[in-house]
Amino acid sequence: MSNPFYQKDILSIKDFSKSDLSLLFSTVNKIETLEFEKRTRICRGKILANLFYEGSTRTKLSFETAMLHIGGNIIGFQDTKGTAIDKGETLSDTIKVVDGYSDAIILRHPTEGAARFAAEIAEKPVINGGSGSEEHPTQAMVDLYTIIAEKKEINGLNIALVGDLKYGRTVYSLLYGLAKYSPNIFLVAPPQLKIRNEIHNDLDNKIKMVEIDDVESIIDKLDVMYVTRIQKERVPDPAEYEKVKGSYIIDNKLVENAKDSLMILHPLPRVGEIKSEIDNTKYAKYFEQAHNGKKLRASLLSLMLNEETI
Ligand code: CP
Repeated sequence: MSNPFYQKDILSIKDFSKSDLSLLFSTVNKIETLEFEKRTRICRGKILANLFYEGSTRTKLSFETAMLHIGGNIIGFQDTKGTAIDKGETLSDTIKVVDGYSDAIILRHPTEGAARFAAEIAEKPVINGGSGSEEHPTQAMVDLYTIIAEKKEINGLNIALVGDLKYGRTVYSLLYGLAKYSPNIFLVAPPQLKIRNEIHNDLDNKIKMVEIDDVESIIDKLDVMYVTRIQKERVPDPAEYEKVKGSYIIDNKLVENAKDSLMILHPLPRVGEIKSEIDNTKYAKYFEQAHNGKKLRASLLSLMLNEETI
């Protein structure tokens, strides 16, 4: 089978077809059944560079764990403090240097377009680990994998995206990922944080989307509820943030009328949107989703760094 991920930059979920994603997801399961010796041979001798100009727990650590899981090595930084970036080194120079040290580069950066810029400079493949409010393609891959692993398919599911739909990069990438399937989407956001017009222009004819203000009125219909944090660091006006923070709180009372099979997902970190009382309910799948990040990213690295599929 040809491998569409081999040596390819992972910049946007838009660049991958449904059949590319199927290969990615089936490779997850194949890697997990390999014995230790075979699994740790997949990326033996390969080096992944993690360049995180913005904080991360899941993306950074799950990529690191994924690379170790398949026998590779890691270099990189979590913070520009202690690097030459603090002395004024440009992103371009940092990428040129690290390109010579590694087989693939992950970049998280607060600026939209940073990963695409890095990919134009680097010869090695670049993975967008989150660029401003633009995209977080590997999180969308994790999210789609998590839904399919539980529900077997996405077509026909009632899926609500709740919270900050304007600045959240995970929700942006996820919407474009979901548009490759045929779910029914409910967009639940305060007026200030509704999805951007470009998404309407791109997706209104491709996927069923309904915008609503409250989650209570649809909770009994939902198969998946994807909750997001209000992106305080990206809301331009602190007064606006104060108005919208706490708009949606998921608690036991809200899920009283939910289907037994409802999945609650969140890319995390959460800052109060999902009360901890939900954690021990059958609905809570967000920690499983975070753990799937390791498996999915191992599959992605395996396909990016080896031409032959498993
Ligand atoms: N979901 C996500 O991107 O989490 P981190 O910011 O911890 O990487």
